Amino acid sequence: MLDLHTLANLLIVSFLLAPPTAASPLWPNTTTPAAPPTACSTPTCQTFYPTSYSILNSRYPTWDQTPLHGNQDFFMLLRQRADTFQVATQVQFSLPVDNGTENSSSTCILQFQLPSKDMQTVLGPAPVVNVYQVTREAGVPATWDTYEPARNASVLVPVFGAVNGSVEAQQRIWNQTGGLIDVGAGECNGTLTWQMGMAFEGGDGVNYWDFVGVEPPFSPVQGFRVVTGC
Ligand SMILES: *[C@@H]1O[C@H](CO)[C@@H](O)[C@H](O)[C@H]1NC(C)=O
Ligand SMILES: *[C@@H]1O[C@H](CO)[C@@H](O)[C@H](O)[C@H]1NC(C)=O
Ligand SMILES: *[C@@H]1O[C@H](CO)[C@@H](O)[C@H](O)[C@H]1NC(C)=O
Ligand SMILES: *[C@@H]1O[C@H](CO)[C@@H](O)[C@H](O)[C@H]1NC(C)=O
Ligand SMILES: *[C@@H]1O[C@H](CO)[C@@H](O)[C@H](O)[C@H]1NC(C)=O
Ligand SMILES: *[C@@H]1O[C@H](CO)[C@@H](O)[C@H](O)[C@H]1NC(C)=O
Ligand SMILES: *[C@@H]1O[C@H](CO)[C@@H](O)[C@H](O)[C@H]1NC(C)=O
Repeated sequence: MLDLHTLANLLIVSFLLAPPTAASPLWPNTTTPAAPPTACSTPTCQTFYPTSYSILNSRYPTWDQTPLHGNQDFFMLLRQRADTFQVATQVQFSLPVDNGTENSSSTCILQFQLPSKDMQTVLGPAPVVNVYQVTREAGVPATWDTYEPARNASVLVPVFGAVNGSVEAQQRIWNQTGGLIDVGAGECNGTLTWQMGMAFEGGDGVNYWDFVGVEPPFSPVQGFRVVTGC
């Protein structure tokens, strides 16, 4: 069963609300990447890229194996109203950390490298992303029904970090750090998993953000990474 309905919905949202494409001299093109991320500057510093990105869609709360939901390298978030349409994303990492040994207690930093302007679609009145850390076994299917902030509305899931995706905020981050954001830090683990969604309802405007090319060999590398030992 193909999830054409969902794809159609999302494409309509993308196309109807497509942003202006004028090139901005303040924002780097894909062909002219900004200063390289400063992730690893010491010999013990290691960078890990995700083993998967998963789309969690409120309209198809139990689906994970469809052209959209089964995609493993696509960052997408959408929020109209909590009760109409939301898309969240889960990102998972596997690290060479033995559970319960000395280096499982080292600090892992979740970083987010902004995509260049022409590689993304960002829309809506407040495209601000909340990131939540969750405990998940490696490779376990991720569906909307497993999205912690929506599972039980009476339980407040602590926010691990936030990313302000508004055009102005992105420009500020490009200016300050070449587009690299430290989202938050925590203990390293063999499997590290975060879920994320739009912090605010978009209403008619729909808060929306997507981009592809979330890991190597895409260059410059954009999206999430974990660094440790820096
Ligand atoms: C981005 O690309 C456009 C068109 O190719 C070019 O005019 C502009 O100078 C580029 N911007 C930067 C920051 O390199
Ligand atoms: C943990 O320690 C092992 C063995 O010393 C090393 O190979 C591995 O890279 C370390 N992992 C991290 C995330 O530092
Ligand atoms: C750590 O523990 C989890 C759950 O018990 C297990 O799936 C994983 O393989 C372990 N990682 C290592 C490196 O032993
Ligand atoms: C780290 O791995 C252990 C063993 O699998 C698990 O019990 C623990 O909840 C994990 N911690 C996080 C933050 O995922
Ligand atoms: C939601 O969480 C609260 C507090 O832990 C619990 O009392 C309640 O039963 C939960 N509701 C559902 C539907 O799981
Ligand atoms: C996000 O950034 C925009 C532009 O700087 C700002 O107006 C807005 O208040 C920020 N939102 C949050 C929640 O920080
Ligand atoms: C980013 O830097 C440019 C050039 O220095 C400046 O004109 C612009 O106002 C800055 N934007 C933000 C949001 O800080």
